[in-house]
Amino acid sequence: MTAAPSPSFDRITELTTDQLRARLPEALQIYVTAMNYPPATAQQRAPMWSAHMLRAGWRCIGAFNDHDELVGLGYGYLGAPGQWWHEQVRRGLLSSGGDAEAWLDEYFELTELHVYPGSQGVGLGEEILRRLLAGAQGSKVLLSTPEGPTRAWRLYRRVGFGDVLRNYRFTGDPRPFAVLGRSLPLEPR
Ligand SMILES: CC(C)(COP(=O)(O)OP(=O)(O)OC[C@H]1O[C@@H](n2cnc3c(N)ncnc32)[C@H](O)[C@@H]1OP(=O)(O)O)[C@@H](O)C(=O)NCCC(=O)NCCS
Repeated sequence: MTAAPSPSFDRITELTTDQLRARLPEALQIYVTAMNYPPATAQQRAPMWSAHMLRAGWRCIGAFNDHDELVGLGYGYLGAPGQWWHEQVRRGLLSSGGDAEAWLDEYFELTELHVYPGSQGVGLGEEILRRLLAGAQGSKVLLSTPEGPTRAWRLYRRVGFGDVLRNYRFTGDPRPFAVLGRSLPLEPR
């Protein structure tokens, strides 16, 4: 069986903090469109994304079309005690009998992964994810995603993510989420 070719996009590349800052309105537009959130969410999220850029191990991959427009991005950083998401996941693991010490030690938190809807369905999300994780620090990767079935779920399962928490309620969000994880590095396709 031959491996599927990588999707051909004009440019898929690592972005520095300065490069993402310069593209932040575009990036947040992809985020609210892909997640189907109200437009005002973009402005609310801007300070949070900017703060994330300063965290240890932060790494971002962006994908551009031939008009040099950002059409997809993924970023994450090293999770650490005291961070909101880390403490939420710890609470969930402790109350469900999960192994908080093992999962929450030396992990890369995949914080955001979004592809503009018009560019979805050709493998771009997987390519961004693979490139992001190929250079990520940490011995494992964790993420949270709304309970499926969604395209995101198919992607995460395809690259080997397993269940860490299911139907988990983060504080302030009524939707059930899954926390998924796996060891690093990923196997090649
Ligand atoms: C999740 C998301 C980032 C995935 O990006 P994507 O580019 O759509 O997804 P993939 O890279 O998995 O590719 C999608 C499809 O292309 C197919 N594909 C994969 N490689 C391919 C290739 N080389 N050539 C052609 N098609 C390919 C895959 O089989 C996949 O099919 P499926 O979705 O029917 O299973 C994107 O769908 C998205 O932004 N969703 C909304 C936001 C969201 O949920 N983000 C995650 C929050 S945790």
